[in-house]
Amino acid sequence: MSVLFEKTKISSMELKNRLVRSATYESMADREGFPTEDLPKLYERLVKGGVGLIITGMAYVARDGKVDRMNGIDSDKHIPEYRKLTDLVHQNGSKIAMQINHTGRQTTRKAIGTQPMAPSAVKDKSSFTTPREMTEGDIERVIEAFATAAKRVKDSGFDAVQIHGAHGYLINQFLNPHTNRRKDKWGGVNRGQDAIFIRDLQALPKARGQRLPYPYQDERIRQNEEWDKNRRGYRNGKDDVRNGI
Ligand SMILES: Cc1cc2nc3c(=O)[nH]c(=O)nc-3n(C[C@H](O)[C@H](O)[C@H](O)COP(=O)(O)O)c2cc1C
Repeated sequence: MSVLFEKTKISSMELKNRLVRSATYESMADREGFPTEDLPKLYERLVKGGVGLIITGMAYVARDGKVDRMNGIDSDKHIPEYRKLTDLVHQNGSKIAMQINHTGRQTTRKAIGTQPMAPSAVKDKSSFTTPREMTEGDIERVIEAFATAAKRVKDSGFDAVQIHGAHGYLINQFLNPHTNRRKDKWGGVNRGQDAIFIRDLQALPKARGQRLPYPYQDERIRQNEEWDKNRRGYRNGKDDVRNGI
């Protein structure tokens, strides 16, 4: 039998097989970030088809970090709806992780109702957005939003939380010297740039005593030999690192 069908574990999360549906933005949410009726239908097809772990499409931790039709996890009001989703997946013997994200500059004023923000005011060529530079207060608020969102993920019955560190969204913007030109403690190579997500990750278990496995979606491993060398230290504290390319 192929190893694909063998049981495995990510941290404390046991999986019935190795068929993982990678995080995929479904565009199946209403304006308030609640799942539409299409989302449970999709997940039901996935688990009935044998997928052992679903990682949801990215869900926003704060309203200024979203794109249209993205699921939200920025309010306790979302919890009962996600409970229905996690129950559905569990009834079919599979596991489900929620991926949480802040889009940073990779959105539009139209989508969030205010000027998007980013580590530095560098124009995004995909959305044509020129963001404003985040204040220290913004950064603290976003870290707190990740931690609070992770608690909601747990309270909604998800088995794990995945931090989206890839694809040019906010955390990735901090990690990339092109988008992070800050001179304060949040900038600089391998130090300030890492600080935001290290603190994010540390905040998660600390946040209200929660401990969820957190696989991590990243893309730097292939980007830069330095990261490769530092991989062990970089992975420290994360249960799994997926390459997001
Ligand atoms: C339509 C679409 C939406 C995606 N949405 C997300 C997402 O929300 N979060 C994420 O981390 N990756 C997202 N991805 C990337 C996938 O998770 C995956 O990393 C990528 O498709 C490469 O996987 P592969 O090497 O198995 O093809 C998306 C990919 C596609 C095609």
